[in-house]
Amino acid sequence: MSELLRVEDLSIAFGNNQVLKGLSFEVNENEVLGIIGPNGAGKTVLLNILTGILKPDSGRIIYQGEDIAKTKIVERTYMGIGRTFQVPRSFEGMSVYENVMIGGVCGRQMTEKEAGAGADKILAQINMADKRDLLAGTLGLLDRKRLEIGVALASKPRLLLIDEAAGGLTESEVVSIIDIVRGAKEQGVTIIWIEHVLQTMIEGTDRTLCVAEGRNVICGNPRDVMDSPEVHAVYLGTEEDYADEGAGADNDIAKTGTAQALPPQDKTLLEISGLNVLHGDLQAIHDVSMRIERGHIVSIIGANGAGKSTLLNTVMGIHNPAGGTIVFEGDDITGKRTSAIAEKGLAMTPEGSRVFADMTVTENLLMGAYLPAAKKAKTEQLEKVFEMFPVLKEKSEQLASFLSGGQRQMLSIARAIMMNPKVVICDEISLGLAPVVIQDIYAKLKELNEQGLTFILVEQEIKRSLRHSDYSYVMVKGRIVLEGKSSELSRSDVSDAYFGINRFA
Ligand SMILES: Nc1ncnc2c1ncn2[C@@H]1O[C@H](COP(=O)(O)OP(=O)(O)OP(=O)(O)O)[C@@H](O)[C@H]1O
Ligand SMILES: [Mg+2]
Repeated sequence: MSELLRVEDLSIAFGNNQVLKGLSFEVNENEVLGIIGPNGAGKTVLLNILTGILKPDSGRIIYQGEDIAKTKIVERTYMGIGRTFQVPRSFEGMSVYENVMIGGVCGRQMTEKEAGAGADKILAQINMADKRDLLAGTLGLLDRKRLEIGVALASKPRLLLIDEAAGGLTESEVVSIIDIVRGAKEQGVTIIWIEHVLQTMIEGTDRTLCVAEGRNVICGNPRDVMDSPEVHAVYLGTEEDYADEGAGADNDIAKTGTAQALPPQDKTLLEISGLNVLHGDLQAIHDVSMRIERGHIVSIIGANGAGKSTLLNTVMGIHNPAGGTIVFEGDDITGKRTSAIAEKGLAMTPEGSRVFADMTVTENLLMGAYLPAAKKAKTEQLEKVFEMFPVLKEKSEQLASFLSGGQRQMLSIARAIMMNPKVVICDEISLGLAPVVIQDIYAKLKELNEQGLTFILVEQEIKRSLRHSDYSYVMVKGRIVLEGKSSELSRSDVSDAYFGINRFA
């Protein structure tokens, strides 16, 4: 097997933050090399160096036998180095087809005609032929991720660099991404694939490299890498979810120590009754009712497009419902302004970890404490979130735009906690986070929960949702199709509920 890329002893520092410390590895022609590693390990920085966006302080990059240190970004693209971005970057006002075409025109200097002819083939390859004329801005997460890969493929890469395509997708959607990557490999593309979704590494890569603190930890067969004590120590923690991928139903899920009976009615903190929400002509939420008990952790499980974010946004006053009521601590908050709702003690971490990029980490956190009640407690809260996420303390004076994907997610959660709320609504809390950090965050949430904070969690990962919550709701196409105490629901009940209904819808 011949070598396509060799990275030798790569180092880079930002100020006194030495991010890469002599990273070395090679990728063979037509191989899929997976890369895992803690948040902030330097994975995205590595891709930025390979594509020429960043210049390393030392080390060599040998591509097709040539040192490309001095090769410009655009020349590297013409040499066949293509990439996707951790946050999809399609042109939202253009159609799916036009976006793919641009990949060919800009990435490979094709004429519009040539690029257009290639675009339809790529749309078939990424399973989006039926979405050809939709505007990219109207796509759901899976399609945005597929399109991102499609645009990169349109530049006919010899080496494709993928930065987190599977985060936030359901298990079956992850499989469709794996299929697309495998398809690209079959066509002869060599791929470097960064992910925190371990299923992709096990099912989609030939070798997996674990990077931590800017150095190689181990590289080899994906299963062996996942099983290695070094990788458990720096990345996986005790997380074993990856071990039973595809193993089917398990009924032994129980949240430790919380199999108590539901508290009586007067403990209700938030009550949603008969909620209907429309997006234009489309009804996104149908007659949803939920009762959230004070001091509980409640999870809402459902595929992308199930209406979870719409539901949460409606609770927060971002959307106005067409019918139904939302009552918080006995007050009707239906249709109230978001600021008034926040003032009552509801905080939300928005999906996609939105942070203020031009503000420092501390400034971002203080934005969370702008309401009078939170302002009073801000010193104490700041200490609490810094203890929860030590990396935010380390980076407290840095601009949020320099944070890694996972660090931004941490900042977004921390900002919600800064509001000193009564309930925190977390939309996709584990997206983009290393398994060890996810465990850590859930442990911290449990601590906060024990101190009385109520949580509403939206998660894709069924097993994790059930394990960490008291009560669960399963949503399909805007409706609640199953609910119950998490300790009494099994993963198979939940998957049957949402796949069963999807099948006949
Ligand atoms: N332009 C920059 N200026 C300063 N620091 C930076 C810059 N880009 C990245 N960093 C820092 O470099 C480290 C590595 O970041 P990187 O984005 O590569 O992490 P990552 O491994 O991709 O993590 P994640 O899995 O969370 O996406 C982080 O601590 C980040 O804050
Ligand atoms: Mg990254």
